[in-house]
Amino acid sequence: MPTASFAQLPNAQPTADTIRKDILANPGFGRYFSDHMAHIRWTLDAGWHGHEVRPYGPLTLDPAAAVLHYGQEIFEGIKAYRHADGSVWTFRPEKNAERFRRSARRLALPELSDEDFIGSLKALLAHDQGWVPTPANEADECSLYLRPFMIASETFLGVRPSHEVDYYVIASPAAAYFKGGVEPVSIWLSANYKRAAAGGTGFAKCGGNYAASLAAQKEAEAHGCGQVAFLDAAENKWIEELGGMNLFFVFKDGRIVTPKLTGTILEGVTRDSVLTLASDAGLQPEERHISIDEWREGAASGEITEVFACGTAAVITPVGELVGEDERIRCQPSDNPVAKQIRRTLLDLQYGRAEDTHGWLTRLV
Ligand code: COI
Repeated sequence: MPTASFAQLPNAQPTADTIRKDILANPGFGRYFSDHMAHIRWTLDAGWHGHEVRPYGPLTLDPAAAVLHYGQEIFEGIKAYRHADGSVWTFRPEKNAERFRRSARRLALPELSDEDFIGSLKALLAHDQGWVPTPANEADECSLYLRPFMIASETFLGVRPSHEVDYYVIASPAAAYFKGGVEPVSIWLSANYKRAAAGGTGFAKCGGNYAASLAAQKEAEAHGCGQVAFLDAAENKWIEELGGMNLFFVFKDGRIVTPKLTGTILEGVTRDSVLTLASDAGLQPEERHISIDEWREGAASGEITEVFACGTAAVITPVGELVGEDERIRCQPSDNPVAKQIRRTLLDLQYGRAEDTHGWLTRLV
């Protein structure tokens, strides 16, 4: 399919260079946004059309727009990395595009082609490449976080799939997702809430899943934890994922286990990449059910040596402890060598410091 061209509507008042440089020196996560956004419109009659890059700014939505009432919305998270020669790359965008289509089908939204998905990232970066930070050293994980999203914009309060939809990509310079960087995080084990059930939307990247995790996230924060871990809804036994990240368990015999995809877990691109990189490193990856009892017992006996969280935003972050109402589950003290090694391998690939043997990088600029 030919790549549609994006109309160019440059921002007449872009952020001053000095302000942009200050932002890039300390961007945090999700606080600042670049000067432009990409947009494509969809209507039932015309399909996808109106490709454009326009100044970043507030959207005009009718108060009766369907997304505001029924949450018909999906999104993605993907990053742009600056390499040492100044070029800008992204990581496995066709995986995000594919997941975006799976999410779209589940939320009864129209599917966007790879060409439009990847084309929109390229079109935006052609304007906003100056917003991609340059890493200060090899431990620095700064990037431009790209957030494609699709909303039901029809003005209509009847409950049915929207006949009008808008797709946007916005961009936000990002440092580490957790304030402590790669310091181990504490995770709260949610006893009161479930994230997803069979047949629901757990595998889709839709705002509703994240909204439904927030009451549990509040509990986590009240207990000094940075994220919440969910168990399955049917048996309250199997580990699923965190509010916004997948989990891995490292065993002392070289196995590395992540909960298998059952339809209730988000199919993380980082999760999938870790499975491959772990195998490259001589570990034995397993996708299977893992119970909270296995976590408890494995951590106590020393069978499980490390637990880590992974995601586009979080990269790879060691889990220091799992905190429940009456317990704390901790692995025996370690420097998390496996998490650190896989994290380094992943970052080296993403920043072009290692050979891209899997063909995972796509050049944006
Ligand atoms: C991502 O990792 O890109 C996500 O969408 C998760 C969110 C916690 C930022």
